[in-house]
Amino acid sequence: MTYKTEIDTDPGRAVDWLNAGACVAIPTETVYGLAANALDPAAVVRIFEIKNRPAFDPLIVHVYDLEQALRYVQHIPGPLLRLAEAFWPGPLTILAPRTDSIPDLVTSGLPQVALRAPAHPLTRSLLQQLSFPLAAPSANPFGYISPTTAQHVYDQLHGKIPYILDGGPCRVGVESTIVGYAEGQVVVYRLGGLALETLEAVAGPLSVQLNQSSNPQAPGMLQTHYAPRTPLQLAARDNWKTAGERIGILTFGPVPDLPEHQLHLMLSQTGDLAEAAQNLFAALRTLDQADVDLILAEPCPDEGLGRAINDRLRRAAVRE
Ligand code: TXA
Ligand code: MG
Repeated sequence: MTYKTEIDTDPGRAVDWLNAGACVAIPTETVYGLAANALDPAAVVRIFEIKNRPAFDPLIVHVYDLEQALRYVQHIPGPLLRLAEAFWPGPLTILAPRTDSIPDLVTSGLPQVALRAPAHPLTRSLLQQLSFPLAAPSANPFGYISPTTAQHVYDQLHGKIPYILDGGPCRVGVESTIVGYAEGQVVVYRLGGLALETLEAVAGPLSVQLNQSSNPQAPGMLQTHYAPRTPLQLAARDNWKTAGERIGILTFGPVPDLPEHQLHLMLSQTGDLAEAAQNLFAALRTLDQADVDLILAEPCPDEGLGRAINDRLRRAAVRE
């Protein structure tokens, strides 16, 4: 099916399309999502088709609030309940044992469902008007950089979806932090928009188990996620070899002595990690579209949102 994709700011239009079983792009505070009725397998199947996503990569179910989330799970482990109470709506996804109301397709057959209440006001208004939750992966073709503006979504998915709900540039800029509960501990499976330090302040010490494709907890966290098409090297400035090639450079902060001719993008003028996270995916897109043979990126300080940024850069640097 081919659509004339519209971009607009009216949640009511998204409600109509979603009620009709279609997929639409929605803004969240982290990245744009490609949403469909999570309770309708026929609608969810379209998400996988549009993204060219393998069926073993499960989807996050977006809800308005904790009360709605509780309808789709057998229970939520106490520590995760406290996290949801503290950080929802926000960039936190929790894993909990699902009920039969969640189709197998959504969780790729896994016993747990991933749940999140997003904070963007347009999408909250949308969720409030719907009688079902929304399955929504990031609105990019599988394996590519997540979109943080409506234009990013349009560039890659126009014609494939009828509507993009435009909520402006995403405030957080990296995907949600995913947590589960296993063997008496809160486990972080994906670093994201909620910093570990912030989580720890509520949950106490946590275990971090970043997923690879071999991890059965989250088979979708493939190592090569978030990859630009252009090769990317992650290295500290002292180790850059900039001779000979057309190079795009991505730095966390200012660089005093960079040769004029090189294409250089900076994530934050003031060394602010939240600002850097906000700018990350747009910067990677710009560098990927520029006429360069190589992208050189330096790691950010490994703290706060810097951890999620470095995780995305490491994955972007992995070649298949
Ligand atoms: O910020 C976000 O989380 C964005 C916005 C749109 O909400 N969504 C997002 O979705 O990043 P996606 O599909 O790109 O990443 C979802 C990941 C999966 O690849 C998998 O690692 C994990 O969430 N996941 C989803 N359901 C799961 C489940 N039932 N069990 C374990 N891991 C799951
Ligand atoms: Mg994604």
